[in-house]
Amino acid sequence: MATTAHLDVGTIRKDFPILDQEVNGHPLVYLDNGATTQKPRLVLDAIATYYERDNANVHRGMHELARRATDDYEAARVKVARFLNAADPSEIIWTRGTTEAINLVAGTWGLMNLQPGDEILLTVMEHHSNLIPWQLLAQRSGAVLRFLDVDDEGRLRLEQMAALLSRRTRLVAFNHVSNSLGTINPVADIAQLAHSVGARVLIDGAQAAPHLPIDVQALGVDFYCISGHKMGGPMGIGALWARKELLDEMPPYQGGGEMIDLVELDRSTYAKVPHKFEAGTPNVGGSVGMAAAVDYIEGIGHDAIAAHERTLVDYGLEMLPAIEGLRVFGPKHAAERVAVFSFAVDGIHPHDLATILDAEGIAIRAGHHCTQPLMRRLCVPATARASCWIYTTTDDLDRLAEGVRRAQKIFG
Ligand SMILES: Cc1ncc(COP(=O)(O)O)c(C=O)c1O
Repeated sequence: MATTAHLDVGTIRKDFPILDQEVNGHPLVYLDNGATTQKPRLVLDAIATYYERDNANVHRGMHELARRATDDYEAARVKVARFLNAADPSEIIWTRGTTEAINLVAGTWGLMNLQPGDEILLTVMEHHSNLIPWQLLAQRSGAVLRFLDVDDEGRLRLEQMAALLSRRTRLVAFNHVSNSLGTINPVADIAQLAHSVGARVLIDGAQAAPHLPIDVQALGVDFYCISGHKMGGPMGIGALWARKELLDEMPPYQGGGEMIDLVELDRSTYAKVPHKFEAGTPNVGGSVGMAAAVDYIEGIGHDAIAAHERTLVDYGLEMLPAIEGLRVFGPKHAAERVAVFSFAVDGIHPHDLATILDAEGIAIRAGHHCTQPLMRRLCVPATARASCWIYTTTDDLDRLAEGVRRAQKIFG
């Protein structure tokens, strides 16, 4: 079993019961963490304990279980706030995930602030979740979308920023880490440029949260969006962080219970932030699970995670391109990427490769990874993607390489 100086992967793997199984007669190699990560026992237990002991509806109950559920829900918010280094827990809005967080900003801040002719600057490497909400907003508001390109290594072409930014730019929105290429984008630098023309900055942090420490204040951004299930937490829960002064100004996203102050038949006043944005019964069990995922990641420590990540990036960048006919997309320098390897193999469609690997118990993803414009930019219909996380070993990457070589023989 591979280990690094800081992280004992063998011990980590024991925390993830799902990894200990055979798939199609082979020990499972799970390399689809970009789609969703597996959940450690700590998270599974936290969710079970919540439902076994504390479950009730929050904020409106006058009994012990309702108090406990409310405490659990709000304590989870405090943990996520600390994880992102938010200035205050009220800056954290629970959402279903990154997608809903982005839609919330587009549907509230966006509709309130954008006028015909205003511009939204995106990049060609965005996940559809950070593209389509802005297309919808542009259609509704008359705003115009503009796009920063990538270079051949899948890095943002920052030299284009000066020409793309202007006083008309109201928002710059892009991912912290690309789900398709693994590129780590220079968030703080771009945020500074955006702010110099008075634009707001939204970061899609779905793929950053599992790999990197995040400090929204140091990054100097205005909105930051994450998903619980990409960082060891459950599905159906995520968070939007936004500066308090922006949240205070923004209108509600959805109407219903929990988000109100006083309701008349023809008008209402709304609860204070964050509850103004949390209409309806929330996913309390999900919040508890996401907070447990934060505990788990912080228990391992970002330094250990970074050291392990570096080991995997170095290993993958050396071993994968050594396979004849295999091309890895994304940055070549380890410091510019996380351990997400998108690749193409001559003569084998990524879907066929994924099917052959699956027969050997190796789970990868093949397709456009919800980044169709990026695939067009790279001139490929699809890629194969092996995405790693804290429990991935160099042995897993060896099994991947063996599987690719076997596929080459089949297609040879
Ligand atoms: C970069 C990026 N942004 C956004 C999303 C959407 O996240 P969710 O489906 O959890 O809302 C994903 C999911 O794959 C992603 O990788």
